[in-house]
Amino acid sequence: MKKILIIHGPNLNLLGTREQSIYGDATLEDIRKMTVEYGISIGYEVDNIQSNSESEIIDAIHASPGTYAGVVINPGAFTHTSYAIRDAIAAVDVHFVEVHLSNIYSREEFRHISVTAPVCSGQISGFGPDSYILGIEALKRLLQK
Ligand code: DQA
Repeated sequence: MKKILIIHGPNLNLLGTREQSIYGDATLEDIRKMTVEYGISIGYEVDNIQSNSESEIIDAIHASPGTYAGVVINPGAFTHTSYAIRDAIAAVDVHFVEVHLSNIYSREEFRHISVTAPVCSGQISGFGPDSYILGIEALKRLLQK
């Protein structure tokens, strides 16, 4: 079965308790289960990893070719700052879709810039946990082309 990796960046381990008015009450474990089940329903094995460390995220990106057909990434606040994650995504030959739970364009101005989205196939922002499902669906369609 083809595999998809979901990378959750910093502070997403706190979902469920973190700023619930913005991020809702789904936990990371809820999102893991939901994405794994959705993956199975469309014929993909989905792995989820979370890290608060930029270097671990970069290592996971470097390790993705050969194992994963595509990657859904929520880089958290690294979205707005990390040229190193951007360069890692650009360096590997794997499809990436960037996702955000919140609509980053309706929030503070510093969140309106994503340094990582330009090296991804596209970005999905603002649909809560469904952003991940839409990200998987987008990858599936890209991989079918
Ligand atoms: C986020 C949006 C980012 O601006 C923020 O730093 C996060 C979560 C989202 O999923 O909405 O940590 O990526």
